[in-house]
Amino acid sequence: MRSVLVIHGPNLNLLGRREPEIYGSTSLEEIDRRLKALGGELGLRVETMQSNSEGEIVTAIQQAASWADALIINAGAYTHTSLAIADAIQGVKLPAVEVHLSNIYAREQFRHHSFLSRVCIGQICGFGVDSYLLALRAVAQHHSAGYSAVSE
Ligand code: DQA
Repeated sequence: MRSVLVIHGPNLNLLGRREPEIYGSTSLEEIDRRLKALGGELGLRVETMQSNSEGEIVTAIQQAASWADALIINAGAYTHTSLAIADAIQGVKLPAVEVHLSNIYAREQFRHHSFLSRVCIGQICGFGVDSYLLALRAVAQHHSAGYSAVSE
């Protein structure tokens, strides 16, 4: 069975309580539960982690190279700042899908640039919790289409 690591970055542990008008009222635990349930339907093992620390996220990506077949990542604000996370994704060569609950392009200018987009196979943003579920479907589709890694 293929395995997918879903990474939630800084402040996403506050989901449900943090700016619900932007991020919705669903908790991170509930998002993880829905991802695992959908993974079951799609035949994907889903592991999830959350960290507020850039270094921990880099380490998790590096370690995923030995067991995961794909990454789904919402790097939170690190999306807009972290060359280290982008380098880690590029380094492990796992197909990765970038996720955001909100539509980052409809928000402040500083959210419009993502360091991660260049090293991901695609980005899904603006659909709230469904952004994650759509990303998992994208991973399943990407695998069944026979791709194994990010195209050069
Ligand atoms: C976010 C968007 C980021 O700009 C922000 O810093 C977040 C959440 C999203 O899911 O919409 O923390 O990644």
